[in-house]
Amino acid sequence: MCGIVGVTGNKNSVSILINGLKKLEYRGYDSAGIYVNDQEGHDYLVKRPGRISNLEEALTPEVHGSAGIGHTRWATHGEPNEVNAHPQYSNDNRFYLIHNGVIENHQQLRDHYLQGVKFKSQTDTEVIVQLVDKFVTEYNLDTKSAMLKTLRLISPDSSYAFIMMDREQPDTLFVAKNKSPLLIGIADGYNMVGSDATSMLQETNKFMEIEDHELVLVKPDVVKIEDLDGNEKTRDTFTVDMDPSAADKGAYPFYMLKEIDEQPAVMRKLVQKYFDGDQPEIDNNLLKDMNDADHIYIIGAGTSYHAGLIGARMFEKLTGTPTTVHISSEFAYEQPLLSKKPFFIFLSQSGETADSREVLVHVNENKWPSLTITNVDKSTLSREATYTLLLYAGPEIAVASTKAYTAQIAVEAILAKALGEYKNISAAAEFDLKQQLGTIANGMQAITDSKDTLEAVATHYLSKPRNAFYIGRGIDWSVSLEAALKLKEISYVQAEGFASGELKHGTIALIEKGTPVIGIITQDRTAGLTRSNLEETESRGANTLTIVSRHLAKEDDTIVIPDVDELLTPLLSVVPAQLLAYYTSLGKGLDVDKPRNLAKSVTVQ
Ligand code: F6R
Repeated sequence: MCGIVGVTGNKNSVSILINGLKKLEYRGYDSAGIYVNDQEGHDYLVKRPGRISNLEEALTPEVHGSAGIGHTRWATHGEPNEVNAHPQYSNDNRFYLIHNGVIENHQQLRDHYLQGVKFKSQTDTEVIVQLVDKFVTEYNLDTKSAMLKTLRLISPDSSYAFIMMDREQPDTLFVAKNKSPLLIGIADGYNMVGSDATSMLQETNKFMEIEDHELVLVKPDVVKIEDLDGNEKTRDTFTVDMDPSAADKGAYPFYMLKEIDEQPAVMRKLVQKYFDGDQPEIDNNLLKDMNDADHIYIIGAGTSYHAGLIGARMFEKLTGTPTTVHISSEFAYEQPLLSKKPFFIFLSQSGETADSREVLVHVNENKWPSLTITNVDKSTLSREATYTLLLYAGPEIAVASTKAYTAQIAVEAILAKALGEYKNISAAAEFDLKQQLGTIANGMQAITDSKDTLEAVATHYLSKPRNAFYIGRGIDWSVSLEAALKLKEISYVQAEGFASGELKHGTIALIEKGTPVIGIITQDRTAGLTRSNLEETESRGANTLTIVSRHLAKEDDTIVIPDVDELLTPLLSVVPAQLLAYYTSLGKGLDVDKPRNLAKSVTVQ
């Protein structure tokens, strides 16, 4: 995945790069590096395995520059060590390149053009920088032409966001992208490039988009954009609605706990942003396009896919439109038969997930209308979809998504109610969503206030076992998937979410003495059935626990949550699961916010 940042025209380049990289650490954190040049004949390359703090410690006061590039890595090619960390550089130490993405034809390029070149790293990136060098030194091309020639040789299925520096033109950043996100930041007397707006927000709130297949030359006082045929292009700037201080952890030990605690406030903010009186306020053009559609396709990955599973029920029940949910990486490569008038909803906290974007590119090629529901204003998916609805959840920094999941469900509910009313569907008119969201905010608050109990449950039941199961039926099953994902990704317990009726068809074989099985029970019709399934596991040795809506609760239930409309119970039932995951990870002494092998924003396919 990787995060990249560049700056030119500022003497404080080193600190600007390090601050930017810290904001991008969510994109990968297995190694980091910078290259800076003071344009007076001194330049420095510093790379370290591990976190950005390791890189920071390695920076002596001597390391300085007025232009530079920085990279935080999530390894795709080559293990995460110092040699494979970026910047990668040419063998004559002239060109320095940072890259986010995957060059699919790197081996062919290497075999065809670079036989005899000695490679230092196992990365696909080094091939690109060695190619540019070859075209400059052996073909006598200038740097820009060499970069253009190289870009034309990269296969279209590759993804890249590049920033390259040439020691002989040290005030210029050579910038290009395909599929991977990248923005230009226009600051006061200097310019920047970064994987996202937050990496530059401390310096500027004036941004410029870069499109795929362009080459951009960024100098301290000018930004020149060209297509790959050398035609110059102009571009407007934009600002983003984001407060840089909202990304601070405050007194919390981990971002994840802060973000779980912020959920009641996010629910209230969504009411404030999307309601006028008791009615949701949604762009009429969006409602019209959705009304014209005969099928809604929801596309997402991971937690966002799980939020889609909940939303699909709302769209079907409140609007009467058939709705299906798809994992973006599956849909992109095995598209189901589509209806005649499809409407696409992309769910993405970051707005940058490569698999989801792959689907959106195809949707746009077919001119189908689309909506992105995202937390990041002007993110790639937001810019490229027909419509955007924002989550207003504030920056989500912890890798494990929490407040974005509940915000996605709430925004889906708001949209489903608005569309249902537009279609004159009585179930939508009768759905008192504004009042429900208020109740939910209070309910979330009550659950987050019972942290001591949840910590004790996590310590007692989840700290030792290697496996655990969340089970439920219908909407409770969908929440089980998200609950299990939270537990596995930050505590490394092998956790699975299961349709409780499906257990006896195979999975119950895994239950042994002490296996935790957590039943989610919030639906009148299925409560009894899920309880029976829990008992079946208990009689085979499981330690059973329950997360139960109050009106369905029995004396020995473990966690009782407030009652809300049955369509909205996921907004409450997921919160204890988030906290159980948090305390299990904390109890094991793990890095809750940055679990191993993961990155927050998955910008490779
Ligand atoms: C899990 C998690 C991931 C993301 C997934 C999609 O806690 O955060 O599963 O949900 O990578 O990311 P977005 O929503 O940014 O498209």
